[in-house]
Amino acid sequence: MSGHGDPIPMTSVACGPLRGTAEVPGDKSISHRALILGALCVGETTIAGLLEGQDVLDTAAAMRAFGADVTDQGGGRWSLRGVGVGGFAEPEGVIDCGNSGTGVRLIMGVMATQPVTATFTGDASLNGRPMARVTDPLALFGCQAVGRTGGRLPMTLVGARAPVPVRYVVPVPSAQVKSAVLFAGLNAPGQTVVIEREATRDHTERMLEGFGAEISVRETDEGREITLTGQPELRAQHIEVPRDPSSAAFPVCAALIVPGSDVLVPGIGLNPTRAGLFTTLREMGADLVYENERIEGGEPVADLRARFSPDLRGIDVPPARAASMIDEYPVLSVVAAFATGQTVMRGVRELRVKESDRIDAMAKGLRANGIDVDEGEDWWAVKGVGHGNVAGGGLCESRLDHRIAMSFLILGMASNAPVRVDDGGPIATSFPIFEPLMAGLGAKLSRS
Ligand code: S3P
Repeated sequence: MSGHGDPIPMTSVACGPLRGTAEVPGDKSISHRALILGALCVGETTIAGLLEGQDVLDTAAAMRAFGADVTDQGGGRWSLRGVGVGGFAEPEGVIDCGNSGTGVRLIMGVMATQPVTATFTGDASLNGRPMARVTDPLALFGCQAVGRTGGRLPMTLVGARAPVPVRYVVPVPSAQVKSAVLFAGLNAPGQTVVIEREATRDHTERMLEGFGAEISVRETDEGREITLTGQPELRAQHIEVPRDPSSAAFPVCAALIVPGSDVLVPGIGLNPTRAGLFTTLREMGADLVYENERIEGGEPVADLRARFSPDLRGIDVPPARAASMIDEYPVLSVVAAFATGQTVMRGVRELRVKESDRIDAMAKGLRANGIDVDEGEDWWAVKGVGHGNVAGGGLCESRLDHRIAMSFLILGMASNAPVRVDDGGPIATSFPIFEPLMAGLGAKLSRS
């Protein structure tokens, strides 16, 4: 949905101990993929725990526009009757993916090898983001794309009439690019091979296998090589979506910095390609424990217990960990402000092309709240001042970026003066219950 409403200014003031259980919503990455793969099956796919954030709702609407029957059964339960691999209908209108890079890039991948033409658009943030990283490999299958200068949306794709399979080495660490190529490979005859030099989140590979596709992964000198056999008949599934570690990050980090806090965040997916933040926080000295570790639906899951951690230390976060915590750097930088010493985050160039330039957005907002930040093109460093010493008092721009808005609201929970955010509206894209959930733990957030 590209029509973003009026800005919702928000303020976060220091609060007493955060306590209780934080049931965060379903995983955003898995939710998009469940809808897309359900739309490519012939029978009925059912999904429980779907994230009903705007990003995912926009993908559901897109699947309807391409011909799938998508039903909201209520309470996070959804069902789909799909069209089969290669069975997309041509949409009548423009496909509006709102704020979601994942939504638009994955859907472009699926349609690229089907004989349909579709036009994609999004909000001001999405329309500024690079799409050539996806349309370049899709061209190898025979798909044509015409967009604005610099490969920006709005953009029209003409799907390949006679797609050919592709071998592609992904040039940037991106699960969206990898997934777009794999989804395109679904309707190409023969084997599509994707190689990633750095492992990124592997939900697409796991889910393709679950839906019955022939897919294999092996380590090679070039990197992680994924081979998919095209034109499978996908089998309709029941998907239980685990809770989102990227959303869990917010109550966890808040508990670490607010004195006296003790918060349980149950049922969090801890796929190693997603859990880098929690490793990093423990290295910083966080009191963060995994309880009740188990396997659910093929994914490792645990209940996270986070308690106030008075002795956090700044650390060097290695570049090799970047892909497994790429969405968590904004909130990590907030925790880093409360640590003693410097936290350096390297190998994070991709942060500059997210919903906003996240290094720039966080650096400016942290400085406005009395924290020193250094930055280069692919690194940044936050100079922690220790508990009780974060000034706050700043007004921060959220730049149509949900994670920037939430990160600064977490900052305000333990700062000496209130922290204001110019627009909390984007939070609804990924974490629509953020406000009541944090308030239920004891946070003091207001719309002002
Ligand atoms: C996602 C991949 C990541 C991440 C995004 C979700 C996905 O993007 O930032 O929030 O579901 O595949 P990139 O592929 O651009 O790194």
